[in-house]
Amino acid sequence: MIDPLRVRIALGDRSHDVLVGRGALSAAAGEIAAIARTREVAVIADEHVDDLHGAQLTRSWESAGVRTGTIRIPRGESAKALGIVESVCRTLAARRHEREDLVVGFGGGAATDTAAFVSAVFLRGVPYVAVPTSLLGMVDAAIGGKSAVDLPEGKNLVGAIRQPRLVVADLAFLDTLPVREIRAGFAEMIKIAWIADAKLFTELEETSGEVLDEVARDPSIVARCVALKGGIVARDELEQGERAVLNFGHTWGHAIETEARGALLHGECVALGMVAAVFCSAELGQCPRSELERLVRFLERVGLPTHRAEIDVDAVSTRMLSDKKRRHGGTRAVLTAGVGSVSVADHVSEDAVRRAVTFLRREGTRCDLSLE
Ligand SMILES: NC(=O)c1ccc[n+]([C@@H]2O[C@H](COP(=O)([O-])OP(=O)(O)OC[C@H]3O[C@@H](n4cnc5c(N)ncnc54)[C@H](O)[C@@H]3O)[C@@H](O)[C@H]2O)c1
Ligand SMILES: [Zn+2]
Repeated sequence: MIDPLRVRIALGDRSHDVLVGRGALSAAAGEIAAIARTREVAVIADEHVDDLHGAQLTRSWESAGVRTGTIRIPRGESAKALGIVESVCRTLAARRHEREDLVVGFGGGAATDTAAFVSAVFLRGVPYVAVPTSLLGMVDAAIGGKSAVDLPEGKNLVGAIRQPRLVVADLAFLDTLPVREIRAGFAEMIKIAWIADAKLFTELEETSGEVLDEVARDPSIVARCVALKGGIVARDELEQGERAVLNFGHTWGHAIETEARGALLHGECVALGMVAAVFCSAELGQCPRSELERLVRFLERVGLPTHRAEIDVDAVSTRMLSDKKRRHGGTRAVLTAGVGSVSVADHVSEDAVRRAVTFLRREGTRCDLSLE
């Protein structure tokens, strides 16, 4: 077995490693046994992921001498509810889970968000390890310590920051992940490269052949994305400044996602949101138009959406303008000067927001269309 790559997230006494590679799950068994000092491990698992890979997790870790007990939660986003948190906490209480016993989140971003939140609140905090099984979870959701569940009023409204003791990103899990989900995770990789590493963006762009197969499962590329996000989190864990740039593509993306009511995946909305953000930046004279063309060309090549005729311009714009990111009379958005350079703008005008949403409704992939 090849040793997994190890990325250190430097957060003082909350520093921890992220293991990345095929076989990382088995390779982590010894470390899990060391973290689980009481030997008791509660695995909070997405039920679909548990069906596919649960036995493998139990087998590899029990051989290192820990006892695992699995608590299954619903598949995907429906796990992110306070009712599920309550039922998981009650199961932990009934099993007499103690303060030193380990909680593991096992599944995509929805399962790790829920499990991390449980680990933050049960007994006021128990040790936590994330085992993300989706590409989006590996490069984004399980990195950085944000945990949250949803309310009927909106996504991620109840949460906590809780750093894991270890993150185990075993790329073999991706073998069963549908290609549409791989693409959605890849959108977040494109996002982090655009924000923080122009060289990585160019490398991804210049990959010949089937980009997704070649790079999305390449441990060194996944590890570089983890390190980029981890570096930003290490400098601004509580999002008092720099961490907000991770919202690149999300200002428009979240509004599009809510209005699409389940028709689009999060990563697909981030792709559309990045197109809107780059268009807006170009319109405001902050970014060359060629950068917009470059982004659209690359997203098209990997099969991510760059336009969508069904977008309701009024509904999306209104949602953005009333969103929590609205500040001091303008909308807060992450704009860009081009690959490798992003910044938070506090006063993006209503007109600029609307024009970018309107741009997404264009037909075809051309970027030189006038809006009038
Ligand atoms: N905490 C953060 O910083 C952060 C960052 C980004 C996203 N998120 C959250 O992450 C969630 C999205 O994560 P996601 O895209 O992983 O979605 P998800 O967790 O809903 O998983 C997507 C689907 O893939 C399935 N799946 C997962 N792994 C699989 C595998 N190996 N094989 C087959 N099927 C598999 C799941 O059962 C689910 O149906 C959102 O709730 C979002 O808010 C959190
Ligand atoms: Zn995202």
